[in-house]
Amino acid sequence: MADDKGAGGSNSMWGGRFADRPDAIMEEINASIGFDRRLAAQDIRGSQAHAAMLADVGIISEEDRRAISQGLDEIGGEIERGDFAFRRDLEDIHMNIESRLREQIGDAAGRLHTARSRNDQVATDFRLWVKEQCAEAEAALGRLVNALLDQAEAGAGTVMPGFTHLQVAQPVTWGHHMLAYVEMFRRDAARFADARARMDECPLGAAALAGTGFPIDREATAHALGFARPTANSIDSVSSRDFALEFLSAASICATHLSRLSEEIVIWSSAQFAFVTLSDKFTTGSSIMPQKKNPDAAELTRAKVGRILGSLVTLMTVMKGLPLAYSKDMQEDKEPVFDAADALALALAAMAGMVADMRPNADRLREAAAQGFSTATDLADWLVRELGMPFRDAHHVTGALVKAAEDRGVDLDALSLAEMQAVEPRITEAVFDVLSVEASVRSRTSHGGTAPARVAEMVALRRSGD
Ligand code: ARG
Repeated sequence: MADDKGAGGSNSMWGGRFADRPDAIMEEINASIGFDRRLAAQDIRGSQAHAAMLADVGIISEEDRRAISQGLDEIGGEIERGDFAFRRDLEDIHMNIESRLREQIGDAAGRLHTARSRNDQVATDFRLWVKEQCAEAEAALGRLVNALLDQAEAGAGTVMPGFTHLQVAQPVTWGHHMLAYVEMFRRDAARFADARARMDECPLGAAALAGTGFPIDREATAHALGFARPTANSIDSVSSRDFALEFLSAASICATHLSRLSEEIVIWSSAQFAFVTLSDKFTTGSSIMPQKKNPDAAELTRAKVGRILGSLVTLMTVMKGLPLAYSKDMQEDKEPVFDAADALALALAAMAGMVADMRPNADRLREAAAQGFSTATDLADWLVRELGMPFRDAHHVTGALVKAAEDRGVDLDALSLAEMQAVEPRITEAVFDVLSVEASVRSRTSHGGTAPARVAEMVALRRSGD
């Protein structure tokens, strides 16, 4: 559109000293409008706050402020309705909106960019966006934690095998296993909250990098945009993307937790384990094998860590070695963050749905809990407590009893007292009290232990938000 071009057909927003149009490839590599249009709402909010501040301190007139404000509202409406014509020759969301504002209100639009640069503008928009994503992630984690707490409460006394090395180790309770993930996801939420508090500073007013000579009020714009305060150093304001790196770090750790739970769900729902039944809502069938019910949601949630961690590595690598202050490299910050945020939101929602719908198979869990001599530690502890044996000796005696049971092809509690006494004559009938999986979990009452009573207490504590 000829009327949008400056002299010689160059860019109308910065083309004063340019005679020629950019090469098509230049335009393609330079443009970010294809993805940063996602920052439209934040860009409009930022401009509204900036214009209001400029008018309040007397840098622009009230009339200009009204025109700018109305124009921006209208543009916001156009974008929402899908009526806005995004133009690649205008590079990014900032210049697309400003150019449209000029079409609407004329010269006043040109005054909006007083005491501001795209460098502080984009830093502000992006912080607003990432801050919102942190809050979204915290809320989504809260929903997942609630689903896990429901499972923990219902299954506080449901015995299942606890594993180390994926070998049966000791009996635990289903509720306790669910609470392990509650702890992880609560820490994840706290990481997003921490990051959000740290990024709660507004870069607007840093201008290109050095600040500005105009008498701006940075406190006012910071507060208008919901930030706690303005950033302290103008160079840092436009150079730093560690707020986005922190979001991606927290997201990567969270995605790792999601992938571990996903993996367990995949294992548990297999016919060989049959620990849980997944709902039809979060599984799919096979086009060739009619009997199949595949845990696709769990598999895809398990996989999301790939792109989320990949995004962290991408942005870390982009930022590494960049000299201060702004470099165009930093335009490459958005796509990985958008992609990771979308992947995380979807994975969290899928996991909350799966967990809410998943049904533990109590009979099968109990049966599996009793396999693999899972109460051997309880037997050794009994020898220590009742016979005063040193633990190392008790360990040795228990090993011999496990061997005896194994040779006969039975569980520990199926050995007769005589068979036990053949190994250690002082063993009495009372030993059988500790050999059941129920007795085993009931006895683990230490703080943070798997005893049903402890699990019920912890569910209540976590529900209270503590
Ligand atoms: N689209 C740019 C980005 O995302 C906006 C900032 C441009 N600043 C500049 N000095 N060219 O980083």
